[in-house]
Amino acid sequence: TAVKLADYQPYSHVLDRVALTFRLLPQATRVQARLHLAPNPVRGSGLDLRLDGENLVLIALAVDGQRLEVQPDATGLTIPAHLLPDAPFVLETEVEIAPAGNTALEGLYMSGGMYCTQCEAEGFRKITFYPDRPDVMARFHVRIESDMPVLLSNGNPVAAGPGWAEWDDPWPKPAYLFALVAGDLVAHSDRFTTQSGRDVALNIWVRKGDEGFCAYAMDSLIRSMRWDETAYGREYDLDVFNIVAVDDFNMGAMENKGLNIFNSKYVLASPETATDEDFARIEAIIAHEYFHNWTGNRITCRDWFQLCLKEGLTVFRDQQFSGDMRSHAVKRIEDVLMLRGRQFREDGGPLAHPVRPDAYVEINNFYTATIYEKGAEVIGMLKRLVGDAGYKAALDLYFDRHDGAAATIEDWLQVFEDATGRDLTQFKRWYTEAGTPQVSVRDDWADGVYTLTLAQTLPATPGQPHKGLKVIPVAVGLLNPNGDEVVPTTVLELTEAQQSFRFAGLAARPVPSILRGFSAPVVLDRAVSAAERAFLLAHDTDPFNKWEAGRALAKEVMAHMITDAAPVSRDWLAALARVALDEGLDPAFRALALRLPGEDDMAATLAAAGHVPDPAAVHAARQALADAVAAELAPALPGLIAGMATPGRFSPDAAQAGRRALRNAALALLTRRDGGAAARAAFAAADNMTDSLAALVALLEIGAGAPELAAFEARWQADRLVMDKWFMLQVLYAAPQDLAAVVRRLTARPDFDWKNPNRFRSVIGALSANHAGFHHADGVAYDLLADWLLRLDPKNPQTAARMSTAFETWPRYDADRQALIRRALHRILATPGLSRDLGEMAARMAAG
Ligand code: ARG
Ligand code: ZN
Repeated sequence: TAVKLADYQPYSHVLDRVALTFRLLPQATRVQARLHLAPNPVRGSGLDLRLDGENLVLIALAVDGQRLEVQPDATGLTIPAHLLPDAPFVLETEVEIAPAGNTALEGLYMSGGMYCTQCEAEGFRKITFYPDRPDVMARFHVRIESDMPVLLSNGNPVAAGPGWAEWDDPWPKPAYLFALVAGDLVAHSDRFTTQSGRDVALNIWVRKGDEGFCAYAMDSLIRSMRWDETAYGREYDLDVFNIVAVDDFNMGAMENKGLNIFNSKYVLASPETATDEDFARIEAIIAHEYFHNWTGNRITCRDWFQLCLKEGLTVFRDQQFSGDMRSHAVKRIEDVLMLRGRQFREDGGPLAHPVRPDAYVEINNFYTATIYEKGAEVIGMLKRLVGDAGYKAALDLYFDRHDGAAATIEDWLQVFEDATGRDLTQFKRWYTEAGTPQVSVRDDWADGVYTLTLAQTLPATPGQPHKGLKVIPVAVGLLNPNGDEVVPTTVLELTEAQQSFRFAGLAARPVPSILRGFSAPVVLDRAVSAAERAFLLAHDTDPFNKWEAGRALAKEVMAHMITDAAPVSRDWLAALARVALDEGLDPAFRALALRLPGEDDMAATLAAAGHVPDPAAVHAARQALADAVAAELAPALPGLIAGMATPGRFSPDAAQAGRRALRNAALALLTRRDGGAAARAAFAAADNMTDSLAALVALLEIGAGAPELAAFEARWQADRLVMDKWFMLQVLYAAPQDLAAVVRRLTARPDFDWKNPNRFRSVIGALSANHAGFHHADGVAYDLLADWLLRLDPKNPQTAARMSTAFETWPRYDADRQALIRRALHRILATPGLSRDLGEMAARMAAG
């Protein structure tokens, strides 16, 4: 049964304050709750009180001290109106729960011997009876009784003694932001003084032995706090800020007020154990969760349909932050790679949904690339349309107007309308309609006037056959034939089905650079000659489009290899080599230019062009392309590797990371020519995880690396996070025909702890990232995935459902593969006792 946006009603009561007492025991935790309630004047009086609650044993229930005998049902508790005063009252409950048996990792559960919580989206109802909805915001007071030495909750610590602690959170919040942690933890601590002078104690809590791996996360936190003050004028608002790292976590991290809980993968790092990408992700996720303090916590969502209100905005903010800390050009390219790889894929398949959906069965299934990444893109477009000053004015108004409240997308758009005077009626369709628009471009040159004609096409998506025209900001620049920019970046606003834009006063027909900075999440459709792409790759002043030109060329070359057995284009090789060796360019950019399109991306591109992709052919073409690049660059590779050395102490900063990325890209190419000699030496000599892993991957890519894998395992077997990488690599780089066997071997190991989401993801989640292996014609990998999803589902439905998205691309492939995947989906659907999570996903994909 679906929940619908159209059915929204405010809650029957208002909830002002909550006092919770936890007596923690693994099998029998007692939770006492005192809720200060009153009839909601907006709804009137005489209404029943409905509280959510799942898997709770009700011990006692009282209203204003009077015991009541009311039996809960499967999803909660209804107290009939006639048992309630028509005035403020206190509702008391006591329930019993068993955190040790909670394998779904939602609500209160145990991980590595500690108690922890995950309440977003609807986990609080597994802790106590409560109106578990984000528009009910209350002040929480929490008492924890436990023999664990460290007892944490939201807000500020107010009192503690042996075996107990009390916390008080002065800021009203919805239940999904509640958190509790109890464990034998140690802190890596620091302090921060806010711009108005508040002294904040910062702690990152980890298990003993991990305290030496927190420095980068702490540094990232301090930089995030400073950045939000400078960039958005947002200051921290409590005396303490705690972060806890836990090993068993379904997602990346959670922004609970004053007590962020993190997957340990996104906290713990050292040069020896974490790659440059890991450091960058830690920085981004620490920032993301911290930024939620304002965009999510101080201003929250009215209901879960508004999830993008906090997630899109907070992703947008963390992207800005990472760009400021590192390189905006490189960050933008990486974000677009991810958007196309995950969100476009989602938007073009059976799981497509709007940035603001209007119905869901299980809200956990909507923590998607569309809500997060497309949600961020929509804000980027808004900022481009209203300008930096307009954006700032709108955000100031947003914080002013909605602080302390639960808001909607309508509220969000209203502040932009009020602050800038712009009508956003048409723009709003970006929130309500799914699908990736296609923008086709024609150009024309006559009498010294250059005309660009843009047209938009809006593909149908499940449940949305017809779309309204979008407002599409298309950033354009023009170059003259010498490569000089004659028209700097200008934003064209495409609002009609088709529109022409004229540029007069040009001496010669220009070369257009269209959709600079990827100014809108659309697919650009324009026939461009290879020569023109090579020209843009060489001359475009917009770094995103410079990269994009090379990317588009690489895809065209690869597509021709696959569909017409064309040889690798010499022109492309020469153009790529020029960029790779251009010392005037940022090494990180050069490394990105050398990264070939992935096989899934290529399959999507072929499908969009009307071909049925053959995964084996795509794999072969990519290998051939990599060999050709290696041959072209061969004479330069040793020099490139030597020239990109990073002497001195390891630093995860962007400059060093960029040099390592380029050096390791060169090493991977050299490995295709020297039989692996250089990579073996690099592996042996590596003193950091980035270089060690890069050398290992280079070897695995040529079917070598067995001794190095063994050495890696011997060295890192006690480190869970590093071993996750070891598991994953073998899945990602298995030869297509060997993939199923490799996965069977890995999953048979005693250290394949499949109940740990990180470990499960590193093997089963990686299956479909080995594109040619997953889509091997025998269909064995499809069945293997279905088997594991069905095994995980009863324990951890959320992660099972998420991993099932590997099947979402089935409509791209041939009839045999389609039938095999559909058979797997139907087998899942036919399984008795399937969770709502996996059931919804499988049904949507099968219907697709
Ligand atoms: N709000 C968290 C974040 O974006 C994500 C938590 C989602 N968890 C879940 N079970 N759906 O940082
Ligand atoms: Zn978030």
